[in-house]
Amino acid sequence: MATESATHGELAGRTALVTGAARGIGLAIATALAGRGAAVALVDVDAEALEVACRDLTGFGKPVRSSLVVADVSCADDVRRAIETAVTDFGGLDILVNNAGICPLSPFAEISEAEWDRVLAINLKAAFLCCQAALPHLRRSGCRGRIINIASVAGQMGGLLVGAHYAASKAGLIGLSKSLAKLLAPDGVTVNCVAPSTAETDLTAVWSDEMQARVRAQIPLGRFVRPEEVAAAVCYLISDAAAFITGATLDVNGGLYLR
Ligand SMILES: NC(=O)c1ccc[n+]([C@@H]2O[C@H](COP(=O)([O-])OP(=O)(O)OC[C@H]3O[C@@H](n4cnc5c(N)ncnc54)[C@H](O)[C@@H]3O)[C@@H](O)[C@H]2O)c1
Repeated sequence: MATESATHGELAGRTALVTGAARGIGLAIATALAGRGAAVALVDVDAEALEVACRDLTGFGKPVRSSLVVADVSCADDVRRAIETAVTDFGGLDILVNNAGICPLSPFAEISEAEWDRVLAINLKAAFLCCQAALPHLRRSGCRGRIINIASVAGQMGGLLVGAHYAASKAGLIGLSKSLAKLLAPDGVTVNCVAPSTAETDLTAVWSDEMQARVRAQIPLGRFVRPEEVAAAVCYLISDAAAFITGATLDVNGGLYLR
């Protein structure tokens, strides 16, 4: 499903694909990009939530061009279909945001092999698949080409509460980003990570009040990050002002590393 086109905004004429875009941080990123004039393909495995998200996205009061793709990003065929849909609908792809992720809290001794594989498949392999499928299109975009991978503080310092598989997947995402940043630098395409601390989303809403308070107490700014604040960091890295930043990880963590 593709909708109306935007002709204004700093990202007018650019095209983006955001994974895990049906809710939370992914939806905030898709909303921010669309609000700046980009045509956005929203990709998620949750068809119902995606439908609602896309409806809301087109209700800004200004023209927004969006496309909706139900896909499991840990599946190579689904990823190829998602990228092809965006390219067909929009005529190219300039911006890829790998955001889809899951975060089981299992203690290390209780992580099954199947759960390890699932976390690594959705949080890390999916980004590899998306980057590989998007590569020729991003290269064609040259200096407008951007990859943003949504990592986590867990990838840098093991996390506050999360499982080892989650931390390993996010550390892997940071390594993947650095490797791709070197590969794509000659084309002018930049590759960066955004690493939030605990965010106000469905992913953390299921935590008990005690768990949420324990995590909040470790963050100097004393609260969880809002999805819109993560989206703002993504928008900066996508902007022309950030054209010389690549291979970096932008921390959006309320000062967590100050302690
Ligand atoms: N919430 C946090 O505290 C936090 C902190 C740091 C980093 N992050 C990262 O930010 C990203 C978004 O987190 P969120 O809190 O918005 O999560 P969320 O659970 O609110 O939303 C994640 C979305 O990803 C989708 N998704 C899951 N598996 C998928 C798959 N295989 N294919 C396609 N879509 C899939 C879900 O359906 C959901 O819509 C994740 O990568 C997460 O690890 C979150």
